[in-house]
Formats: sequence, C-alpha cells, structure tokens
Amino acid sequence: MKNIDLSNITDAAVQSFCALQNDRTRHLVQKLVASLHQYAKDVQLTHEEWRAALSFLHACSDISSESRSEFSLLSDVLGVSSLVDLLGGKPGATPGSVLGPFHSAGSPWLNNPAHLIGANEGVPVLFRGRVCDVQGKPLPFASIDYWQNANNGLYWQVDPQQPSDNLRCQLQVDADGMFEIATIRPVPYEIPTDGPVWRDLVQAAQRSSWRAAHAHIIVTAPGYARLVTELFDSEDPYLDADAVFGVREALVGTFKSTQDSALLSRHGMEGDNCLVMDVELRLSQTEYE
Ligand code: BEZ
Ligand code: FE
Repeated sequence: MKNIDLSNITDAAVQSFCALQNDRTRHLVQKLVASLHQYAKDVQLTHEEWRAALSFLHACSDISSESRSEFSLLSDVLGVSSLVDLLGGKPGATPGSVLGPFHSAGSPWLNNPAHLIGANEGVPVLFRGRVCDVQGKPLPFASIDYWQNANNGLYWQVDPQQPSDNLRCQLQVDADGMFEIATIRPVPYEIPTDGPVWRDLVQAAQRSSWRAAHAHIIVTAPGYARLVTELFDSEDPYLDADAVFGVREALVGTFKSTQDSALLSRHGMEGDNCLVMDVELRLSQTEYE
C-alpha cells in the first residue's frame, strides 16, 4: 500500500501520467499537474475555493456553444492567448496577436486591390501593405485573410443586419508582395459581457471590457510560418487597456490623409476624405526539424 501524503502526492500524480506515449503530450501533462499542485500549495487552497473554481468552469461550459467559447475568452482575458502568441514570435518577424472568436474560414477571394466598403457606413480607409521576409525581401506568393467589425462595433456573425461576407476577404499579394484593402475604419468594441468571464472575473476586477479598434489579418506564404495578427489604430482610446492584451507597438499604425490621386482612383475614392495606413508584415521561415 502506498501511503499518499503531502510529501509524495505531487510525485505520485505526475508519475501516473508517465505512460502517455507522445513525448510532448507527456511533458505538457506532467508539467501541468506539477504546476497545479505547486499553485495549490503556494496559496494553501481550501476546499471551498476549489469548489468555487470548478463552479466557475461549469458556468463557462454552460454558456459555451459551437459559435461561442467562453474558455477562449477566459484564455484571452488571462493573457494566456497573447502569451502563446508572443512565445511563438521570431526575431525580426511581425508579432502575432489574438485570433479572437470571429474568424470564419472561407472568406470570399477578391482581386487585389480589394474593396470591402460596399453599403457600410463609416470612415473610408485604405490599408496598404507589403508582405516580406525578415530581411525585407517581398514574398509574392503570400496570401491574406482579412476581417474586421462594422461601424456599429459588431462582426457579421453577431449582426443579422450584415451580409455574411461583410468586411472580410482573402486575397493574393502582387509580385512586389503588396496589397491594398479599401474598407472602413475599425471601431473599438466590447468583449462579451453576458457570461461568467465578464461577470465573475473581468468586471469583478474593475477591468475594461473594451478591445482597442483593430483589423484582423492572417498571412500565409509557402515555406513561412503563418502569421495571425492584428493592426491597431494609433488614435484609438483603448490602446493602453485592451481587454485581451493584444496590442504590440509594431502593430500600431497611423491613418494619414492622402493626396495620391492614382491610389485614390484605383479605389474609386477621388474626392473622398480617405485615410491610408501603411503596414509591413514580416514572416519568418518555417523551421523544419
Ligand atoms: C476579437 O478580436 O474579435 C476578440 C478577441 C477576444 C475576445 C473577444 C473578441
Ligand atoms: Fe476582433
């Protein structure tokens, strides 16, 4: 009989997973068990507190559905999603930032330059970007997956008034790695405030529910690591209080007015008060083991 006590319970629990076949999975699980045990010891966790934590997780599960993951939101507001993004960063490459819950695969492929404004109200803007490697060499085979919210703050998935292709697209960059997207200026919006993550955690901590205005972008190119990131607006009031820790200096750009008539006429925007943000997206090469 093994006498389990405070001195050996962590070891016993960690060792109980030693037959996990995959090396990486075994490492992840054993380290997690050891860290949880250490946490419980550090804070001298009580039964009542542990039950409360489990109830919170139950509430997260209850409100989750196919189209809503309270656990993703939990990861976001704890900063873990952003931490994982940052851990995956490579020197010289554009930093990653949260994917968020509103990416839907299968956005329409549009010609580059792309026009997304359609019937949307809002400030017309142009994202003018260049995709390159960490040395600055253009990557002409890159493609872009782009999505953002409408002027009312909502993404199409949660707004029945918007068509399903609103303010999202995929496109191929040109031979110089360049792309242009005519759209409306993204606006700040709140993380979901009807669930336990907001109620019991973020609001309870008197934190802000706001995300700084941003456009989402995924860049892929053969041989290069996929970049999932966001572009922020330097004039946004929530840059210092983004609820999910997504803001990185390298991702903040400034919208400037433009007199470039060739650029404006390409987008049918002559005479409009159009703003342009120039962005450079640097990808690191895929690491082969
Ligand atoms: C978003 O970027 O759309 C988002 C990210 C985290 C939580 C909620 C929304
Ligand atoms: Fe978003």
